[in-house]
Amino acid sequence: MHVLVDHPCVQHKLAIIRNVETGHKRFRELATEITQFLCYEALKSVKVKEVEVQTPVDVAKCKKIDTDIVVVPILRAGVGMLDGILALVPTARVGFVGLYRDEETAMPVSYYERFPPQVESGTCIIIDPMLATGGSTNAAIDRLKDAGADSIVVICIVTCPEGLAAVQVEHPDVAIYTAAIDDHLNEKKYIVPGLGDAGDRLYGTSH
Ligand code: PRP
Ligand code: URA
Repeated sequence: MHVLVDHPCVQHKLAIIRNVETGHKRFRELATEITQFLCYEALKSVKVKEVEVQTPVDVAKCKKIDTDIVVVPILRAGVGMLDGILALVPTARVGFVGLYRDEETAMPVSYYERFPPQVESGTCIIIDPMLATGGSTNAAIDRLKDAGADSIVVICIVTCPEGLAAVQVEHPDVAIYTAAIDDHLNEKKYIVPGLGDAGDRLYGTSH
């Protein structure tokens, strides 16, 4: 299952973050802002419990989130979305998966993994701005499932049909929330039109 968040506020910000003229400071701000909208949508059906709250006037029947939220950025670009999730869910726990794409093969190479124990019982949110071939996202889901997770959603900013299909074939139980489903992957496995190398644009490491 995937959800394209087509809200004008998200699409407006997407138009700016894609622009080659947008520098790393603004790129980082926009990644945070877009992530907040995507996270809001992704948590729409999260488990809640009924609670009674004493207001100054009477008792109100309210709802509170009833699951541990564990957010898992894929290093390094996923870290650029972390502040956006924590602004919305300040009590979220954070795990990390270190993966990079081999420049020749575009296959994910794993170099780090650290999860809180709550991945087993809570709701895990994998964040990475780009879901291209889907290799990195699939590897992150595999790691989380190996650690005992059974409730996983993915939030990305831009994806493409190839990446969506790859994740949906391997992990049909995992929902993907995105702001854009682009046209295709080019010969270097970059998303077209995409927004370029998300890590480089976030951290100012390109030329
Ligand atoms: C980028 C991106 C994803 C991955 C997507 O990371 O942030 O993790 O590529 O591609 P895929 O869907 O084909 O796996 P990259 O490997 O460039 O590492 P970085 O975040 O350290 O820049
Ligand atoms: N990684 C990126 O940062 N951008 C792409 O388009 C594909 C993979």
